[in-house]
Amino acid sequence: MQKQIKKVGVLGCGLMGSGIAQVAAQSGHPTVVLEVSRPALDAGLKRIEAFLAGGVAKGKVKPEDARDTQARLSGTLEYADLAECDLVIEAVVENLAAKREAFGRLEARLNPAAILASNTSSLCITEMAGATSRPGKFVGLHFFNPVPLMKLVEVVRTVRTEPGVEETVLAFARSLGKTPVRAVDRTGFIVNRLLVPYILDAIRALEEGVGTIADIDQGMKLGCGYPMGPFTLLDLVGIDTTYFIANIMFEEFREPRFAPPPLMKRMVLAGYHGRKSGRGFYDYSAEPPTPNDSLTRG
Ligand code: CAA
Repeated sequence: MQKQIKKVGVLGCGLMGSGIAQVAAQSGHPTVVLEVSRPALDAGLKRIEAFLAGGVAKGKVKPEDARDTQARLSGTLEYADLAECDLVIEAVVENLAAKREAFGRLEARLNPAAILASNTSSLCITEMAGATSRPGKFVGLHFFNPVPLMKLVEVVRTVRTEPGVEETVLAFARSLGKTPVRAVDRTGFIVNRLLVPYILDAIRALEEGVGTIADIDQGMKLGCGYPMGPFTLLDLVGIDTTYFIANIMFEEFREPRFAPPPLMKRMVLAGYHGRKSGRGFYDYSAEPPTPNDSLTRG
């Protein structure tokens, strides 16, 4: 039976967690977001405040809605503050051990009827569900970056998902103003299954000298009508994050199209992680960012 989701909890207030907490609070849900340290929590809450302020400045968000969103949102370092949530969405680091620990601490307090969801983009939902005491009430709920602007959410069921749980989460995603699509638990779900081989191929094309960073980006933007080219997108999502996802997909499917190319590994090792590290396929030290054309020479 479908259940109504009122109070929402979010584990993790990083790039994805803060976006998820923001859209939940913005769409009327009392929302509690948990972080493991005060500085991480403050940084995440600041990101939300800045996004809302940007929305107000652009005329996209009414000042009173920004105020109400902040009033519905609270940050915490205590799992006990999530006890009353109907749904808790996990968005912590992509590491099964870290997620397992977070679920253990959460479930010691959480209402047994509550649904747990993970925003993972690459880990196995069935395995995560099995690490909790409520595998029937566990789904994947995969948002896209930047969360407040991207309309899609993937809702991922497993063989153990109980009747009604998927419908409840689909309705919740719609309550956020998102458009949900349903997928089964196969690594990458729908979007990364198709997106990851494409962006890895863009790196291979660069390695082979087919075109420059700027020309490959421009080609896909203007030739296919994509909002941004593959290298701008890689820098936005994070080269380290995409490398991690590609490796997990390669392990799952054992197909060369998911294998990260050598240049990508070198960039991760060099700390060229994209926009967040100030350098990736582009250099972000000045506006506008400039393509890092020496990459294929190293
Ligand atoms: N609050 C509210 N609205 C805002 C806002 C804010 N702070 N900032 C911007 N907006 C609005 C803008 O006003 C604009 O609205 P209109 O379309 O009505 O004019 C819209 O959001 C787009 O903003 P911008 O014009 O500033 O920027 P843009 O047109 O360049 O779009 C983008 C930005 C949405 C990120 C777009 O470039 C895009 O879609 N890029 C692709 C991103 C993508 O593919 N993400 C998925 C990554 S994969 C992933 O996340 C999954 C994974 O597992 C790795």
